[in-house]
Amino acid sequence: MKGRESGMPQEAYWASFFNTEAVIETMLGSTAESGNVVEFGCGYGTFTLAAARRNRGIVTALDIDPEMVATVKQKAQALAMPHIRAELRDFVGHGSGLSTGTQQHAMIFNLLHLEQPVALLQEAHRVLQAGGELSVMHWRSDIPTPRGPSLSIRPTPAQCRAWMTEAGFHSIEEVDLQTSCPFHFGLLAKR
Ligand SMILES: C[S@@+](CC[C@H](N)C(=O)[O-])C[C@H]1O[C@@H](n2cnc3c(N)ncnc32)[C@H](O)[C@@H]1O
Repeated sequence: MKGRESGMPQEAYWASFFNTEAVIETMLGSTAESGNVVEFGCGYGTFTLAAARRNRGIVTALDIDPEMVATVKQKAQALAMPHIRAELRDFVGHGSGLSTGTQQHAMIFNLLHLEQPVALLQEAHRVLQAGGELSVMHWRSDIPTPRGPSLSIRPTPAQCRAWMTEAGFHSIEEVDLQTSCPFHFGLLAKR
């Protein structure tokens, strides 16, 4: 099942909100460059591509929307990045399909407002190897933002922390995204 309010606007408009490379440097900075990375809900691949520019491991991009998956596949091919693996997948209904403990980093960006956040976080926890990292980014609700899900379902950093803890993550830290995407907050956690 597609998460509520998880559709995407036009790509250029979406991209205008982020300094993508800076976000990835903040989020993946302590992830080994050889490690595998998974992005749950990759959309246009805004962050998948930046992660793949940094990391030489397999970068798995999962999305339920065929158009998004096709876009990421085309970009990976055009940019000669065979280590990007874009796959059509409903990870809410069917899990990620990834083997347990195979990933060094999992990214969940702009998606934790979906109906079952803890189940998704548990799936991220399952596929991460011991010591692997999770990064979460989402629209802030303490300032006006030009986009983002309804405030009634938009999680705060505190709410995300509680869900991440419930899913088994520890060492949860808020990261500073003020210069790379000021409408967002970011959290990093360890498996
Ligand atoms: C708001 S977009 C964020 C895209 C990307 N993470 C980013 O920040 O640029 C959320 C994405 O999650 C995907 N999505 C929603 N529910 C999903 C599900 N159950 N399984 C796989 N993908 C899903 C949507 O199709 C959409 O592309």
